[in-house]
Amino acid sequence: MMLHLDREAPLQHQIYDQLKHAILSRRIKGGTRLPSSRALADRHGVSRNTVLIVYEQLLAEGYLETRPGAGTFIGRSMPELKESGAQYPEPRSARPVRLSRYSERLSGLDVSTLNRGTGLRYSFNYGSVSAADFPADIWRRLLLREIRRRAGKPYLYENPQGLPELRAALADYLHRGRWIDARPEQILIVNGSQQAIDLALRVLVDPNSAVVVEEPCYSGARLACEAMGARLLPVPVDADGLDPALLPPVETGVRLAYVTPSHQFPTGGVMPAARRLALLDWATRAGTYILEDDYDSEYRYEGRPVEPLQALDRAGQVIYSGTVSKVLAPGLRLGYMVLPPDLVQPFLRAKQLTDRHTASLEQAVFAHLIRDGHFERHLRRTRRRNQRRRDALLAALTTAFGTEVEIAGAKAGLHLVVRFRGISATLAASVAEAAAQHSVGITAAEVRAGGDGASFVMGYAGLDEADIRQGVALLREVVQSFHRRSQRGRGGRLSKPVP
Ligand SMILES: Cc1ncc(COP(=O)(O)O)c(C=O)c1O
Repeated sequence: MMLHLDREAPLQHQIYDQLKHAILSRRIKGGTRLPSSRALADRHGVSRNTVLIVYEQLLAEGYLETRPGAGTFIGRSMPELKESGAQYPEPRSARPVRLSRYSERLSGLDVSTLNRGTGLRYSFNYGSVSAADFPADIWRRLLLREIRRRAGKPYLYENPQGLPELRAALADYLHRGRWIDARPEQILIVNGSQQAIDLALRVLVDPNSAVVVEEPCYSGARLACEAMGARLLPVPVDADGLDPALLPPVETGVRLAYVTPSHQFPTGGVMPAARRLALLDWATRAGTYILEDDYDSEYRYEGRPVEPLQALDRAGQVIYSGTVSKVLAPGLRLGYMVLPPDLVQPFLRAKQLTDRHTASLEQAVFAHLIRDGHFERHLRRTRRRNQRRRDALLAALTTAFGTEVEIAGAKAGLHLVVRFRGISATLAASVAEAAAQHSVGITAAEVRAGGDGASFVMGYAGLDEADIRQGVALLREVVQSFHRRSQRGRGGRLSKPVP
């Protein structure tokens, strides 16, 4: 048996890899006697010790067996693996994979859009935040402080509900900044809103359970409901968010209603007090829970931030979910829930079994950030910066498109919804594709019909003002080319649908 050894990789690895491959691919049959370690070492000019280590490793893994006095042999009971031509056989399934019902439902859904960063130069992706806005120096300082504090102590499993110091800090912050009166015992630290949605579905929803969602709805919530097999009851939104007059009758047996009342996603509507009270009243009569996704309301540019639904809840029917994805960074995967007292234990059990708890080092740093006053200073600073970005985007869109563009949802959050009047809604995806070719990232919005025009979500938190202006100037060229084509199409001269 000849091995092909070079001096590039460690000899021990090469001998191990080649012997194992020869055994797995059946180039050496089960039961064959191997040369002695000394003979193999001499033949290849390597030390005997190197060969001995490899033989011992292959023996320990069950590829080889020894017979006292007779030598070392290839194991007889090795299952046959077909030669694939590649160095290792391709992994392949022996039989059709049997997926769970959950996974089968999931395979019919496109969840890839959730984590999509466009990577484009002018990305108006609504998930982006600016690297320059992240308080990196403070975060580094607090992280080091925490690591020093923990020196010599093992990093053990922590409280599944979240670090007590973070829950206490959040309770104070939520009281000051969001008018929420929550005790630390009602707070559950999670890995972002997506986990809050997932836990709410696990705890409250079975396959075929009725779940109210907004129409249009945040895809992270809609997809999670669909994967769970929930029966979705979409309720249309208008400029004031979800319309409670259109909710299903209270006898429907709705188990959960998912809403974004402070800044409807994607349309941007802010739900007025009368609608909030009507929604709460409906939930009480229907005996259902409301999941309030308060994902970006720290950023409100006119007047003070809107009071959350949770702050009006007297019957313990609102499950509140907040996240740092917009205010710090989505990659931190940190979020928090405020739970009605009756739901604390069920959620806690589900969280513990899902992932034991959220990473504790980041939790500790976030707690320091709030406690030391950095967080609210950071919010004030980024609110000003995002307002400048929003103003730059509004001004650039108005200059570039004039009355051709209709803009909604600008009062809060980090994105706008823009509708180009002269372009058919059916062309939205094509416009987004053409824009991408010009390095501009925009997302076609799933906005209900109600006025003609193609609608897009445009986030602005990841760009500086100059890039916003440049991105809109490029977008103008794309949109104009679609206008021209639409006009030619209407004049009957363009037979083919565009593009
Ligand atoms: C409606 C809504 N909720 C939540 C989030 C953030 O989710 P997460 O906290 O899991 O990052 C987003 C992100 O864009 C969102 O649009």
